[in-house]
Amino acid sequence: MSSKFYVTTPIYYVNGEPHIGHVYTTAVGDVLARYHRLKGDDTFFLTGTDEHATKVVDSAAENGVSPQEWADRNAKAFQDTFTRLGMSHDDFIRTTQDRHKDKVQDYFKQLLDCGDVYLGEYEGWYDAGQEEYIPENKAKEFGYKSPVNDQPLVRKAEKNYFFKLSAYGDSLLQLLGSGEVFDVRPTARKNEVVARIREGLNDVPISRTGSGDWGIKVPGDDEHTIYVWIDALINYLSTVDTPERRYYWPADVHLIGKEILWFHAVIWPAMLLALNKLPGNEWMKLPRLLYTHSQWISEGKKMSKTLGNFIDLAQIDHYVEVFGLDALRYFLTTNGPLGTTDSDFAEAKFIEVYNTDLANTLGNCFSRVSNMTGRYFDGRLPKPGPEPQTGIDQEHDRTAEHAVRDYHRAMQGLELSKAADAAMGLVRAVDGYIEATQPFQLAKQDGKLPEVGTVLYNCAEALRVASLLLWPFLPEKIEALWRRTGCGHYADALADRGKGELDQWLTWGQCKPGTEIMKGDPLFPRFQPAKV
Ligand code: MSP
Repeated sequence: MSSKFYVTTPIYYVNGEPHIGHVYTTAVGDVLARYHRLKGDDTFFLTGTDEHATKVVDSAAENGVSPQEWADRNAKAFQDTFTRLGMSHDDFIRTTQDRHKDKVQDYFKQLLDCGDVYLGEYEGWYDAGQEEYIPENKAKEFGYKSPVNDQPLVRKAEKNYFFKLSAYGDSLLQLLGSGEVFDVRPTARKNEVVARIREGLNDVPISRTGSGDWGIKVPGDDEHTIYVWIDALINYLSTVDTPERRYYWPADVHLIGKEILWFHAVIWPAMLLALNKLPGNEWMKLPRLLYTHSQWISEGKKMSKTLGNFIDLAQIDHYVEVFGLDALRYFLTTNGPLGTTDSDFAEAKFIEVYNTDLANTLGNCFSRVSNMTGRYFDGRLPKPGPEPQTGIDQEHDRTAEHAVRDYHRAMQGLELSKAADAAMGLVRAVDGYIEATQPFQLAKQDGKLPEVGTVLYNCAEALRVASLLLWPFLPEKIEALWRRTGCGHYADALADRGKGELDQWLTWGQCKPGTEIMKGDPLFPRFQPAKV
């Protein structure tokens, strides 16, 4: 059954170039978006840039250009990088675009109207890097330093517009308690949020003064700029607030890193609840799921420029050049910090995953099957005939069905590593089947060629099923494989964000005997460490 699917990434600060963290969340979003398109869902995948931060003004000044020029330059770097890395987002929102700014002012006006915003004064500890006030107890716990970049917190007082967040504690606890309308995962993260809401919610400032001209003005009060976080969160809604796109809202998944959980799990839904109270805003429902991942560290340590272990754009490009784009996507999305523990981006681990899963399992299995097809059947897929006798399970369609079932279950639960493993498991089953039936021995025996044909047909079928499941992770290589095996129509249907018909395509027995199987170059040549 197909339906709609709307997935977002955080929008990234444009004070610098993209790095592995940004590429990671976007790659996860891309795999999910591709999976849903493959199923035939009407999918919308959004990413973009958050441009009105003070640190953008600061880094622009350091580089001797205007904030807009600096934002343009870095937003372009994000766009170019994501395009180069094959990300299939449907839109790229920049918060400096009029289409966003107009909506932000519009919603802000509505918030003023809804009675949950008032003018007041605020004083507290401010984390300038994260553009965030830190509550006294937390500030103390962090030693009055930013937990993100270690810079000292600054004492700041200002007159602001405040949002009555305090009025929403009970509703949020109730919503999170049931998890039916709005949920936060993994559960450990949800528990953290719930515990903090239980401590009590303070009203929060949603405007700033003295930030100059950079930012979106509070409608009707030019002295105040809308707080960058409020401006940024709205992107998820502003981008789809058009007659053609409203149908995508609410977002099905907001993917975020753990350091921005509070804004997304508390402030964002509370704002939506406030907006939703106004007539005509009934469609502004809460996002269904906030999925919070952990952090990449590198070579066993927190990534840092000074340690020299930072996986920056140059490093990313290097990995793509040496191993290929799909290898990077595969490593990030199957070995990344999707759960509650951090993941290590280590070269040795990358090579091991590449060689084990991609070269030795997938690449090698395809070579074996295409080699034998070449040798025994002139490169044309044979007709299935009688099964050779072995001791192993030969209900191939059932083996494939199990893999498909595990795969869907994992994908629905955002367990990308398990999903990929379900597909790889099917490829390993093909290897096991070849070991058990020994087609190269059968081929030497009189009258056994039809059995060899059966083996190769079943192998090709199972590989076809596995390839469909792996496409969201490895689009480039899988499309190449399809083009060599008479399945180019899948690639055609999915090209340019097209939709697939996964359920139908997965039905066993669709490989056509007689189809030419082109061996071609190895899909994933085994990596020899000397190359790095
Ligand atoms: N602009 C805000 C988000 C606003 S969303 C309405 C922001 N931007 S950011 O440029 O700092 O990007 C934060 C996001 O980048 C994280 O939530 C996470 O998705 C990703 N990552 C940044 N560093 C990371 C790692 N070291 N590891 C994994 N992902 C991390 O915060």
